[in-house]
Amino acid sequence: MIDIKDVVEEIKNRCDIASVISEYMPIRQSGGNYKGLCPFHGEKTPSFHISSSKQIYKCFGCGEGGDVINFVMKMENLDFLDAVKLLANKCGIEINTNMNEEDKLKMEKIKKYQDIHLEAARFYFTNLSKGKNPGYDYLRKRGLDDKTIKKFGLGYSQKSWNDLIDYLLSKGYDKEDLVECGLVNHKQESNKYYDRFRNRVMFPIFDYRGNVIGFGGRVLDDSLPKYLNSPDSIIFNKRFNLYGLNFSRKNIINRTIVLVEGYMDLISLFQYGVRNVVATLGTALTEQQGNLIKRYADTAIISYDSDEAGIKAALRAIEILSKIGLNIKVLNLRDAKDPDEFVRKYGLEEYKKAIDEATHYIKFKIDHLKKSFNLDKDEERVKFGKEASKIIKELKSPVEVDYYTNYIAKQINISTESIKKEVYGKDYNKVYNNKYKKFEKKSERAIEKPKIIEKGKELVEETLIKLMLESKKIREITLLKLDKTDFLLNESKEILNYIIKNRDLDKITIDKIKSLNISEEYLKDLEKISLDGIDMNDIKSIDEILKNLKKNNLQEQMNKLLIEQKNIEQQKTNNDDLKEVDVKVMEIALKIVEIRKMLQSL
Ligand code: GTP
Ligand code: MN
Repeated sequence: MIDIKDVVEEIKNRCDIASVISEYMPIRQSGGNYKGLCPFHGEKTPSFHISSSKQIYKCFGCGEGGDVINFVMKMENLDFLDAVKLLANKCGIEINTNMNEEDKLKMEKIKKYQDIHLEAARFYFTNLSKGKNPGYDYLRKRGLDDKTIKKFGLGYSQKSWNDLIDYLLSKGYDKEDLVECGLVNHKQESNKYYDRFRNRVMFPIFDYRGNVIGFGGRVLDDSLPKYLNSPDSIIFNKRFNLYGLNFSRKNIINRTIVLVEGYMDLISLFQYGVRNVVATLGTALTEQQGNLIKRYADTAIISYDSDEAGIKAALRAIEILSKIGLNIKVLNLRDAKDPDEFVRKYGLEEYKKAIDEATHYIKFKIDHLKKSFNLDKDEERVKFGKEASKIIKELKSPVEVDYYTNYIAKQINISTESIKKEVYGKDYNKVYNNKYKKFEKKSERAIEKPKIIEKGKELVEETLIKLMLESKKIREITLLKLDKTDFLLNESKEILNYIIKNRDLDKITIDKIKSLNISEEYLKDLEKISLDGIDMNDIKSIDEILKNLKKNNLQEQMNKLLIEQKNIEQQKTNNDDLKEVDVKVMEIALKIVEIRKMLQSL
């Protein structure tokens, strides 16, 4: 089905709300309607009502209400689109008919490979849970209980070359598919096929929705390699996934996520009751994973192993996460080698305390730096002071600068003045005060009158257009980063079209532009704009303009949605079909949330 609106309508036609809800909780018929105990607040007498004729639910105890999509969103903690997909799937609606043939085949393949992985996970789990086997003994020895094993779907791959292949072939799957999705190896020379995972405990890897997309397999002893992971495939990309996110996204508190390195760390923390955890998959944290974290959290607590490799990995993760703009802290594991050992040794309360007391990443960096200097020697103290001052330069808030300047000064018994000179150079007073002033200015700007901002938006666009006309390099960079929809003015869109069609030109004069359908006013503006203050070779300043442009555009979109939302609410009369209007308002609300997120990430 092409349009999401059609899909939503079709879902509501086909999925009977009472039967969907009855899959989640007991309900009983009362007249033409249904009743039950509300799943969203504790109660002893049923005040949760389902109307079959209106296809909506409403709790008269806590006020929760909505249609079948709302219910699934709320119960499964899914966003709108994922709830729609879940229901579409349930009632057999194809969402992907607007795709071209190639994309459709790809979707089908993804679906098939996920099915294969689910079958494999069930198979490994059965191996582990039926009868005596070394995998189960191993996991119990590691302290995992049956409930945890089941929750994470842990399994065991037999000491056999063809156990899994035989099983999956018997299920009708194709050998080549098993190879391509990474579960089976193929030796070219001898044309032999054999199971990739043998005699290992198996950790199914889920995507954030809970689909099985790969496996990690651990040996049962100290042999190497300790872990064997699925290779990247059409359904599995280590760089884009975080282990455990499917469980933890429902347990995030205060928009804070704990980041660990290992499967065992995450599972062990979960068993003890720390549930806002995700793990990288044995590779250095990537920007994509950072962005995934940012969708759910503002603060990341890095809880990596305490050895040298763990510290190095933490420093790398800090670089990634600070670029993305998260608050970062580092958890101190005391004498434990990893979070798994810590929580076993000291228990849940102590780990929670360690989360609360986690170190600000700047302090962590300074402390780590300190280790490579002998501070008894004057010479080394000075060197440390210089290096540590570089770390401080990253900070934006003057309060933090003050705090950590003092911290360094204390370590080496040097005045804070000297450190500030080191950070800002000789004229530190001037530079430092400017930094303060910039801060003040920013907050003043925030309350500028909207009219001025309006003209500002046009100016940003026009400045960028003028820069693009002047410089081929800027054109090339810019074309990579934006498209027509980023512009508010039709003129800018027209000119962009022209630029795209004439990529080869070195310089595009305003005269050439005049032949397009551009208003006098716009042309005048273009002529007036001065590019004197802009360094055309400085990519950063171009980036800044692009960022402003995107920000303006998003804000404009948001304004429009807010107005639309208000209009709908105002037009709503008592006779209106309640759910129709509510869904519309909700769809808009979701779009607004999306835009807010995008604005924050700029
Ligand atoms: P245990 O040693 O069983 O406690 O596992 P762990 O989860 O604590 O693993 P560890 O901290 O040693 O390593 C962190 C993560 O790196 C693991 O969960 C794996 O994802 C990955 N990893 C570790 N060793 C290997 C290896 O030999 N090969 C590969 N591909 N990945 C590994
Ligand atoms: Mn471990």
